Amino acid sequence: MHNKISKFIQEAESFSAETIEQIEAFRIKFLSKKGVISELFEEFKILPGEQKKEVGQLLNQLKNTLQDRINSLKDQLGSEVTTSNIQDLSLPGTAINQGSRHPISIVRKEILDIFSRIGFTVSEGPEIEDDKHVFSALNFPPEHPARDMQDTFFIEKNPDILLRTHTSSIQVRVMENTRPPIRTVSPGRVFRNEAISARAHCIFHQVEGLYIDEKVSFADLKQTLLYFAKELFGEDTKIRLRPSYFPFTEPSAEMDVSCNLCGGKGCNVCKYTGWLEVLGCGMVDPNVLDFNNIDSSKYTGFAFGMGIERIAMLKFQIRDLRLYFENDLRFLEQFSSVV
Ligand code: DAH
Repeated sequence: MHNKISKFIQEAESFSAETIEQIEAFRIKFLSKKGVISELFEEFKILPGEQKKEVGQLLNQLKNTLQDRINSLKDQLGSEVTTSNIQDLSLPGTAINQGSRHPISIVRKEILDIFSRIGFTVSEGPEIEDDKHVFSALNFPPEHPARDMQDTFFIEKNPDILLRTHTSSIQVRVMENTRPPIRTVSPGRVFRNEAISARAHCIFHQVEGLYIDEKVSFADLKQTLLYFAKELFGEDTKIRLRPSYFPFTEPSAEMDVSCNLCGGKGCNVCKYTGWLEVLGCGMVDPNVLDFNNIDSSKYTGFAFGMGIERIAMLKFQIRDLRLYFENDLRFLEQFSSVV
């Protein structure tokens, strides 16, 4: 009996299989109710007492070897099955999440494209600026409130180094470096010392426009802005200019567009006025031209400036400015269809 069991152990150790069915047949042969192991246990029962210890140990060894062999062969076959699944080229692929552009970047691009089509170049400038480019060269009087710490983030005082509060500073940089005719739009991030709320933020984006040439008139300004409003908000859009004040333009105006939601009839977005305020503009003040060494007796120009957040709010009906900065995917994913 000793020899018989040892042979079975050898057989178990060298057994190999290519299919689950072969393993199952092997299991039935040895481990089923009427299998080899049961038979051997029957023989074992009638052995003389002194042989029982040794044979019993061998029998257990055979049982364990069989079980181990079966388990490891099953594992092997199982992992081969998964590997071959990966190579199944007919399986559908895993979808890759496509990102989307941020609404600010969508609107920024749209504004720049509209002006590029009528010959405006794109120019940029630094976010950290000095007093000259943000205030002095733009005709801000020394006591103007924007020069106060309450409105502007200063990095250093005397000489003043600060975060630009508007992209009008780029106008000055362009005038320093180019001679008329000048036709440029300047996008950028601006900073103001304001409490954050649904309608205000300490960081936001603007696009500045500047056109300087001989004989540029207020009619040119109005016509350019009408073209812009129609391109941005639709062919039926109307504009109106309300008198206003900026230190760097004279005369100055604020431009409203007819409400694109109610078509001018009045709704809660336009606060029942039919109009939405969109940008500030005006004829470049001769002082600004002269300060920047452009002959104001020969050249005239117009300028305008707008907040991108505000325009994106009107275009996409976004009600809270803070959404732009929170990177909430539920918000951002809504723009995935806009290129
Ligand atoms: N810089 C102004 C602001 O930040 C916007 C502005 C108004 C720019 C009139 C202009 C302009 O160029 O002519 O509020």
